[in-house]
Amino acid sequence: MPRFHPLEVTDIRRETRDAVVVTLRPREDAAPHFKFTQGQYLTFRREFDGEELRRSYSICAGVDENCLKVGIKRVDGGAFSTWANEELKPGDTLDAMVPQGRFFTQIDPASARTYLGFAGGSGITPVLSIIKTTLAQEPNASFTLVYANRQVSSIMFREELEDLKNTYLGRFSVIHILDGEGQEIDLFTGRIDAEKMEMLFRLWIDAESVDTAFICGPEPMMLTIAESLRQAGLGDDQIKFELFASSQPGRARKRVISKQAAAAGNTCEVSVTLDGATRSFQMPKDGTAVLDAAIANNLDAPFSCKAGVCSTCRAKVLEGEVEMEINHALEDYEVRAGYVLSCQCIPLSDRLVLSYDE
Ligand code: FES
Repeated sequence: MPRFHPLEVTDIRRETRDAVVVTLRPREDAAPHFKFTQGQYLTFRREFDGEELRRSYSICAGVDENCLKVGIKRVDGGAFSTWANEELKPGDTLDAMVPQGRFFTQIDPASARTYLGFAGGSGITPVLSIIKTTLAQEPNASFTLVYANRQVSSIMFREELEDLKNTYLGRFSVIHILDGEGQEIDLFTGRIDAEKMEMLFRLWIDAESVDTAFICGPEPMMLTIAESLRQAGLGDDQIKFELFASSQPGRARKRVISKQAAAAGNTCEVSVTLDGATRSFQMPKDGTAVLDAAIANNLDAPFSCKAGVCSTCRAKVLEGEVEMEINHALEDYEVRAGYVLSCQCIPLSDRLVLSYDE
């Protein structure tokens, strides 16, 4: 189960007016835990006004850079991102969980794959990690990035992307699409919608040659792009998604109590195994999530987004039945095997046996 470790901030670089790149270093004994795969993220925790906030930010470094770097864009009203942009400084310590996430495909140095990446705003952070790692470790791979922003000044990693184009001449190309600033070519102005996707495929990108597409950005943009990719002939197994941080509401939406749950009885006897120890407690069947009930009963259950996005709260149901409200994180085969996102689960049965250790 993922645990928190202290990371020292070794550098902070302002990337755009409202985004910083933070470089972090684990203590020597924890360093092996912070080896990451391209596209993964770190979950941080910090108290604000007596309340603990947890926020996830994608690692923007490539695997070969041998350092931990995250991009943090300030979100309006976002306590953590505002604090990181305005107050965080080198020498400070941040508590972070070990890298998590499955927004990647296995690297195969012998392959000659064609990749396509779509990023919206700060959704570039995991995609950048994937681009750098893939181009470095798959010498015959090529990568096209379609990157949507409001205007030139809000483009994160603009210089780094230019440098990558020069380093990987002929293997890496970037298409910037701006919706707040006109460009000479109409194709590059406006939002990424179905029409824009159709134009991109007709004029710029050969969809048939694409092996894998990575998409990270706001949900509506991702759904539009994914649908266009499917219509262009890509299968679901060729399309990888990552919802980006500001799409995560931070806590689960209010639940509608299912009639089945209300009729079956008022409480559920829950037994939870965590780090080898099993604890039992009663929880109401009133729409409360299993994770919230576990935390209320002083269990140190893992979580980050509480919105069904990150899978940090993944657990396995060994006995009983639950209803999972939102699932943006688990694959179908995991759900079939009994895995659930405990932040999104309400019990349906009178007894529930759940393990975070499976
Ligand atoms: Fe992120 Fe449950 S805490 S999916």
